[in-house]
Amino acid sequence: MANRIDLFDSTYSHFTQQVLETIRKETFGQDIGQNSWTTLEEYDRFISWLDLRPDHHVLEVASGSGGPARYLASSVSCRVTGIDANEAGIATAYQSVAGSGQADRITFKVADANSRLPFDDNFFDAMLCIDSMNHFPDRLKVFQEWRRVLRPGRRAVFTDPVVIAGPVTNDELALRSSIGLFLFVPPGVNEQFIEASGFRLLKQEDVSANAALVSGRWHASRQRHKEALMKIEGEERFEGLQEFFAAVHRLTSEKRLSRIVYLVEKPAR
Ligand SMILES: C[S@@+](CC[C@H](N)C(=O)[O-])C[C@H]1O[C@@H](n2cnc3c(N)ncnc32)[C@H](O)[C@@H]1O
Repeated sequence: MANRIDLFDSTYSHFTQQVLETIRKETFGQDIGQNSWTTLEEYDRFISWLDLRPDHHVLEVASGSGGPARYLASSVSCRVTGIDANEAGIATAYQSVAGSGQADRITFKVADANSRLPFDDNFFDAMLCIDSMNHFPDRLKVFQEWRRVLRPGRRAVFTDPVVIAGPVTNDELALRSSIGLFLFVPPGVNEQFIEASGFRLLKQEDVSANAALVSGRWHASRQRHKEALMKIEGEERFEGLQEFFAAVHRLTSEKRLSRIVYLVEKPAR
């Protein structure tokens, strides 16, 4: 069985180190500071589904390093608030915004997405959550919270990167979830909770190909930069993370775990 292994603390604490920037460039092509399976092209497509205007205020749940939130704020010229449970992620996000001239439009806050969100009802014009829903075990409660803080008639987009789609062993599940708390669901569960929480499902698409591509590139790039990474991560963590990335690549390429994107809407009335 795989042991728990830190990915987020280590990555966010060293986010601006040259080797991590090089790995992001080699992995994603265009580096917007993402720490997920999304590429710029895909993120742009998801943003376009939200029907955003410059006077809108968007909540990014699990905003990581803050890079994607910054990109969103500059591409739409809207306001963005990012929340993440990881303090190193939020600290990195704050630092990146401080020198960017975007400080009046972007806010970051440490918050646990599994708890009541620290915002009033009907507060945001859109919500976005990339490759993080799998860390929220009380999924129905999370959707209810999202519905509470979203304005009527407005939309949220999220990906679930670990929908069970085929046979998976306990060791494979352990490796895939070695970086923290994970909830794996079979097809139909997200759909059921979306409806039960009062959202309307507008669209869903299988976007596993991006996870297969990105995880494969990430693993290969990390291997090329092993020596520099070992100085940051140490040998045990480096090897553990390599096994994690290899597992993501294998399970998504073989279509045994799917990554699905969902677009939902809070009914106007
Ligand atoms: C795969 S990363 C994705 C980050 C970001 N969305 C991106 O695309 O770069 C998952 C993120 O979920 C965050 N996370 C995990 N559990 C959380 C929780 N309970 N509440 C808020 N964020 C959480 C982690 O700290 C991490 O930043």
